[in-house]
This record gives sequence, C-alpha cells and structure tokens, in this order.
Amino acid sequence: MESGLETVPSGVGLVTAEPQSHAAIHVSNLRKVYGPIEAVRGIDLDIQTGEIFGLIGPDGAGKTSVFQILGGVMQATGGEAIMLGRSARDARSYVGYLTQVFSLYHDLTVAENLRYMGELRRLSDEEIERRGRRYLEMFSMDRFMNRLAGKLSGGMKQKLSLACALIIEPKILLLDEPTTGVDPVSRREFWDALADLSSQGITIVIATPYLDEAERCTRVALMHEGRIHQTGTPRELRDHLGLQRLVVRASDLSRAEDVLDETKGINDAQRFGDHLDVMVEDVRSGEELTRETLTRAGIEVEEIEVTAPTLENTFVALLRHVEDEVRASPFPVKREFQKRPPEATAIGARNLSKSFGSFEAVKSVNLEVKYGEIYGLLGANGVLCASESATCRRSFPCMTISPSGRISTSLPGSIKCRLQNGPKKGAGCFRFQVYRDEAIR
Ligand SMILES: Nc1ncnc2c1ncn2[C@@H]1O[C@H](COP(=O)(O)OP(=O)(O)OP(=O)(O)O)[C@@H](O)[C@H]1O
Ligand SMILES: [Mg+2]
Repeated sequence: MESGLETVPSGVGLVTAEPQSHAAIHVSNLRKVYGPIEAVRGIDLDIQTGEIFGLIGPDGAGKTSVFQILGGVMQATGGEAIMLGRSARDARSYVGYLTQVFSLYHDLTVAENLRYMGELRRLSDEEIERRGRRYLEMFSMDRFMNRLAGKLSGGMKQKLSLACALIIEPKILLLDEPTTGVDPVSRREFWDALADLSSQGITIVIATPYLDEAERCTRVALMHEGRIHQTGTPRELRDHLGLQRLVVRASDLSRAEDVLDETKGINDAQRFGDHLDVMVEDVRSGEELTRETLTRAGIEVEEIEVTAPTLENTFVALLRHVEDEVRASPFPVKREFQKRPPEATAIGARNLSKSFGSFEAVKSVNLEVKYGEIYGLLGANGVLCASESATCRRSFPCMTISPSGRISTSLPGSIKCRLQNGPKKGAGCFRFQVYRDEAIR
C-alpha cells in the first residue's frame, strides 16, 4: 500500500481514504459475482457533482447490482466505489437510494412512512415535519399525507419513495427505475423535480428503461452484460452511431419491415406504431434503396422523412453490435403442460378441524384444489377469517400446525400463501415485508 494514504475498510474492499478524483462518484474496475454469474464485469465511471447520470441497459445488464453497491447495501466482489471521497458503505448517510422494488410500508400512511424514514436517520421531529412537508409539496403530494401508501397510485408511490429518499437531504440520489409503471404526466413532474434537485447540486444516478428519459440525462452509460460499452451525452452517443434515420410510412408496415430487414445496405428496420425507423449510413443512397426495395416487393411507399437518430436507435444498434443480433425469442403462443388427468387433485383436505383451546377455528372443512386452479378462501371478517387462516396454514405444506383430519397434496415445493388473520372483530392482513435489496444480516 502506498505510504501516506490511510486505508479504511469499505463496502467494496479496501479503498484509500482520499478521494481518487474530484468526482462525486468514482468507480473503478467494479466487479460483482453471484456464484457463477458475473453480473458486473469491471466498470469504470466518474460522475460529477450535480450531474443527472443515466444507466441504461437491457434486463439483467447489472444496473441494480451497481446501485446496490453504490448504495452501500451490498459488497462488491472487486474494485472500488468512492462516493464523496468515502467508501460506499461509509457514505450511506449522504446517499438517498430509491430501490427498484417499492420498499415502503403499504399499511403506513404517507406521513408515517416519511416519519419512519426520518427516524431511521435520527432526524428530529421538527426536521421530519419540515422536510416531509417540503418534499410532498414539491411533488404535489401534501394532500395525501394521511392516505395509506398501499392506496396510492403507481406514480404517487414513486413520488413518496422519492420524498423518503430525499428526506435525509442526500448529496447523492440513486434512483433505480423510479418511473417504471408511472403515467406520463407523473413522469414529467418527476423529471421536473429531478432537474430542480440537480440544479441545487445534488448528484443523481438513475436507471431507466425509458429512452426518452435517458435523453434528459446530462450523460448516459450504455450497459450490457455487466460492462459499460459507451458513455457520453445523449447527443455524443447519437453522433457516435454514424447512422441516419429514415422515418418510412408505407402500405404494409409489417411486410415492409421484414423485407428491409433482409436488405443489404439497410442497417436496421424497426416498426414504431404507424411508421418504420430505417437506419442507413448514407441518406441519399439509403432512401433510394428503401424506395426501390419496397416498390419491388409491391409495397406502396407513402412517405420517407429524414431525421436524426433517437437514443433508442443508438441503443438497439449498439446492442446488435455487441451481441451480434439481439432478437426477442418468439412468444410461446401455447404452453405445453404436462398431461394430467383432468380431475386430478393437487391439494385435498378431508374433514379438517382445528381447535385453539376451546375455540374451534376450523370445523370439518373439506376442500379439493385441482391442478391449475387458483383457489380462494373467502369469508367475512372476524371469526371466519381465523378459520381461513388455520385452514390455509394447515392445507399448505409450508405451514406447521397439526389439525385432525386428512391432507393430501401432490404439489412439489412450497406454496406462497397470503394469510388472512385477525381478531374476532375486523381483520388485518399480515404481510411479511422486508427490504429485498438488503441482506438478512
Ligand atoms: N442476488 C442475486 N443472486 C444471483 N444472481 C443475481 C442476484 N441479483 C442479480 N443477479 C443476476 O445478476 C445479473 C444482473 O442483475 P441486475 O438485477 O443487476 O440487472 P439489471 O440490469 O438491474 O436488470 P433489470 O433491468 O431487469 O432490473 C442477472 O443475471 C441477475 O439474474
Ligand atoms: Mg434492475
């Protein structure tokens, strides 16, 4: 180890205590391996203060793994991630992390979720109140203070998640697909808020599947199979593509796409609603080739418009380049199920009874669940719910109480079962809620 530089243990191995650069986030040769899976294969990044940095890539590219390491909730296998001059783990109190999965409490209200997050970070009641109100107002959410988080719309949930990430007033915000499933109006408000935060000097790293959103980032990194293949401003990435885009409107778009896809000299043809995006190296010869090819195939060309490539064009072209050809495998129209006698019973219960002391929770229940059935146990609140719970618990092999009667099941493995339970009046729904992005310890 070099003399003069103190080393400190970190979430990503040993790192120097001094910042490696003036970047807000400095990532060097970062690796993450899950058993045989190499999720992150040596990435390098420098993200400057106040940037909105987009991490885009297909499913499984390794984006969430990078976020988990940057968020200090998962150790890297190798390399280093330095956030504001500290190890990712040590920087956690300066980092707001909005996880890919909604991880707030459905059965707490908006205000209670905020209070909980604030208390976890040891903020005073006054601070929680002041900051909570400020961020909820910022997202026009202050009207919903007392609404249960589980009753919020998708967009509202994401705004609440963002408010919870912001309540600690972080210097860095990590946003893992914050707008997935969010309606376009909410997405716009969300992005206006991000622009506002970045203008205040907050550094934002965001993963998004929406390439129109990536266009709003200061810089974007294209990630694929654990590697970063290109980094630059959206414009730099588009210019780097070296292709032009023809927007083609024709009589039979589906056939036009197939025909052009097979044509030498056409780099890519992709259908978007009422038109095709056709990528060519040279506009003039590309347009001529497109017209000729389609006319020869008996397809009427209605219009060809020349425009700049989108980030989506760039992304698809890059993926095709790095992966030779990325094509979605055809969706299986019909699934082949194992042949079973139509009347075979997957789970059966005969004369099932269960008493808790003098309370008869289950009274001679018979049930029969066939293969492929979704079997619901319904009942009024109160006494019946308790019965359901006991029936449910004993009917499925993952639960362990001993009733009288007979259970038969031929299903392999365990079955997830949401339990209804509650006192005699009313019923509460118990949900096992954990942070999926955190280890058990
Ligand atoms: N805890 C884990 N154990 C084993 N493999 C994992 C684990 N987490 C992720 N992986 C694998 O690592 C790879 C990268 O996953 P990751 O979730 O980081 O990708 P992603 O880019 O966020 O994908 P998506 O866009 O679908 O969210 C995938 O192959 C995934 O199956
Ligand atoms: Mg992910």
